[in-house]
Amino acid sequence: MRLARRHLLPILALAGFTVPHRSSAAAPSGKPVYILNGPNLDLLGKRQPDLYGRDSLQDVERLCRETGNRLGLGIEFRQTNSEGGLVDHVHEAREKAAAIVINPAAYAHTSVALQDALHACELPIIEVHLTNTFKREAYRHTDYAAQVATAQINGCGTNGYRLALEQVHHLLDKA
Ligand code: DQA
Repeated sequence: MRLARRHLLPILALAGFTVPHRSSAAAPSGKPVYILNGPNLDLLGKRQPDLYGRDSLQDVERLCRETGNRLGLGIEFRQTNSEGGLVDHVHEAREKAAAIVINPAAYAHTSVALQDALHACELPIIEVHLTNTFKREAYRHTDYAAQVATAQINGCGTNGYRLALEQVHHLLDKA
């Protein structure tokens, strides 16, 4: 039987052992969480700020790194404007990541290639959208990524990335 770390820690503490805090790339596999961002997210903060908010993608990266440090998760943060580039990042994550957090942006609604790439990953995949896409135009209600993701966080703004990392931590801790 394999005990989750959170169950093991109190037992070890009672037995007088001190357990070091997990290091920064401390998913049980030692692999980082890949945080992948699709097209136009490089314009975050400048593009339709009333809709997407005033935080830049650099602010989002900072939030993810702070959250990763707090949770003991290593972070690999990427953005690309091309569909093939996003698929390539997913292929890399498939080999090197403990989990994927992805905001595919518009490719969520159009890309079967991205869905196929995500489907090929045996990893937790949390899809994030800053806005609630189901309250928006009908063409945003189709979501190819959501059909293969473990979970989706929709409409929480940049806080969605923090929530996604907390869920990744929860899932990896249970594994
Ligand atoms: C988005 C929602 C998508 O519909 C849109 O194309 C984006 C951003 C979001 O984070 O709310 O570019 O992914």
